Amino acid sequence: MASDSPPPPNTGLRSRTIRIGEQEFPYHFGSDCISEIAHAIAELTPDKLIVVTDDRLLELYGSEIECLAGAIPAVTLSHPAGESMKTLSCLAEHLETALRAGVTRRSVVVSFGGGVPGNLAGLLANLLFRGVRLVHVPTTTIAAMDSVLSLKQAINSGVGKNHIGTFYAPTAVYADVRLFATLPERELRSGLCEMAKNCLAIQPSELDRLRAVIAGGEFASPNTLMWLLDASIAAKSSVTRYDTFERGTGLVLEYGHTIGHAIEICDHRARGAAGVAHGTAIALGMLAAAHISHARGWLSDDEVGVHYEIVTGLGVEPRLPGSVRIADVLDVVANDNKQGYLESRTGTVPFVLLRGLGRPETSGGLPLTPVSTAEIRAALEVIARSSTAAPAVGV
Ligand SMILES: NC(=O)c1ccc[n+]([C@@H]2O[C@H](COP(=O)([O-])OP(=O)(O)OC[C@H]3O[C@@H](n4cnc5c(N)ncnc54)[C@H](O)[C@@H]3O)[C@@H](O)[C@H]2O)c1
Repeated sequence: MASDSPPPPNTGLRSRTIRIGEQEFPYHFGSDCISEIAHAIAELTPDKLIVVTDDRLLELYGSEIECLAGAIPAVTLSHPAGESMKTLSCLAEHLETALRAGVTRRSVVVSFGGGVPGNLAGLLANLLFRGVRLVHVPTTTIAAMDSVLSLKQAINSGVGKNHIGTFYAPTAVYADVRLFATLPERELRSGLCEMAKNCLAIQPSELDRLRAVIAGGEFASPNTLMWLLDASIAAKSSVTRYDTFERGTGLVLEYGHTIGHAIEICDHRARGAAGVAHGTAIALGMLAAAHISHARGWLSDDEVGVHYEIVTGLGVEPRLPGSVRIADVLDVVANDNKQGYLESRTGTVPFVLLRGLGRPETSGGLPLTPVSTAEIRAALEVIARSSTAAPAVGV
């Protein structure tokens, strides 16, 4: 759960306290506030900063990174951007460099970047002397709305994504929404699609505000971004408060992700980097989930219509990409990572389904429902046929 928290002294930052299980940390955010963030970091009186970032950000924001350190001796650990950074070899290299540079238990690791530098920095901070302080400065919407609100820190193995990791809490998070201005549009849209998920599955009270953002069309304005952070912090925190490991109530955050992930994987196999953005895929996954709920009589025509209104308002074409085959999506869905949460029932996949906006159906105490392959196929067929308008539901 997030609650108001006093801002750090002498800053105009907005502040929330994040509570996840036993862990608690402040999240401060504002616009054009790098010097306030630097001031707050200095108040932690570190003997050294270890800044973990990527080469793209170093090029774009080298002077902001320098400003964050101010007079504190700092070592910057950078690497070409992307998942190739989330590896054991990069982690080992960064650990050695930090130790050779004289990092101590009083040092602070600062992640400056998206989810990738954030995850790597989290693991690095957890491993140095069995745990030094960690501060996140997220620069992507995914990091600011999602990864820094989770204790999960992981890198990839040769076998798969996020296979090597731990749970570790930051000392604090500081976000400056001005840094999001240089994000590619598809990243910003992905953030808004995740917010659409929060509104539909957790917080329908925020739908009108999202409609206003869509009507205004200014997705990158500081006001929109400040709301986006505030509302997503509230939504995510409300379901992870008592779910440290995100294996209980937090699973509702997977709304749209079962089919969405599968569409993303299939499209990237077919079209490489030209494949749909993560947020677009999740939006399509939510439409499919809404059709499954509707077919069960759980969502009304109007509620499915709200899904289409929001998704298309965010510029997502509500149609399965032509490069994606339904059979391939079904194959990927069969291996979804939520398999195992419910008692195994042959031919079913655990799904987050809604019984109304903001009302996930539960089974076995989890916000999951077993769904048959036939139901998933029927929903995908509706999306494959659909035009830019909501199809007649019930088909
Ligand atoms: N721990 C968790 O719970 C959790 C949750 C969500 C995602 N993740 C992880 O996060 C990663 C994805 O995060 P991401 O999308 O932020 O990836 P990322 O960190 O690779 O950033 C994406 C790209 O955007 C660039 N970039 C970052 N900030 C920018 C800015 N302000 N302006 C311009 N370009 C900028 C980066 O250089 C990079 O090229 C994945 O590895 C995923 O596993 C973890």
